[in-house]
Amino acid sequence: MNDQPANPSTSSATSSATSSGLTALLAHLDLSAGQLEGQPKFERRLSALEDIYADKGAFQEVIARSDPVVYSVSSLELGHGAGDLHCGLGVIQPGRVGQEFFMTKGHLHQWREAAEVYIGLSGAGLMLLEHEHTHEASTLPFGANTIVYVPGFTAHRTVNVGTEPLKYIGVYPARAGHDYGAIRARNFAQVVFAAPDGYRVLERSQLVQQSTQR
Ligand code: F6R
Ligand code: MN
Repeated sequence: MNDQPANPSTSSATSSATSSGLTALLAHLDLSAGQLEGQPKFERRLSALEDIYADKGAFQEVIARSDPVVYSVSSLELGHGAGDLHCGLGVIQPGRVGQEFFMTKGHLHQWREAAEVYIGLSGAGLMLLEHEHTHEASTLPFGANTIVYVPGFTAHRTVNVGTEPLKYIGVYPARAGHDYGAIRARNFAQVVFAAPDGYRVLERSQLVQQSTQR
């Protein structure tokens, strides 16, 4: 059995969490503020998300009116050793760009083996998953009272299909990192559109065919 860390160069790193003492390991969730108290929070505005929306005209219409905050992530990053974990409280606002919902940029982990556990706290959403090598794609319901396990080598994007903020926590290896570039060029294979009864999931390839047939 091989129980050695995949990258021996990081295996001797000490956890800053334990070296700073066990009393520093408690964090409070301020769910109404979408903040892990005392921890950093970043906000992603619509202007940083043009690439992800299929309908460029709809994007220009929304951005001409305002540049809303689409989502925020407040992160707890206590340890940076090989075995440490980080977590983030994500809040995606309800909203749309044309028929597409507010959603995250989406990424693979830089350390491709790194998995992640997403724990839904409130709201109604979806998780788009896409394996980097097999290209298998799946869209799972994700929101209050659901957990999605995101395996390694799997691009993931979270979509708010509801009318209230979608709040969740993601827990991932400290060394996972983010790789946005690999998925940016082709975007996710599945696209979520608003529909009278909620939403529908289409293949992006169908979308291109439909628009070129018009
Ligand atoms: C961390 C993770 C989440 C996302 C967050 C925002 O690995 O998956 O904390 O970072 O949902 O999404 P992105 O990073 O795609 O903008
Ligand atoms: Mn991730």
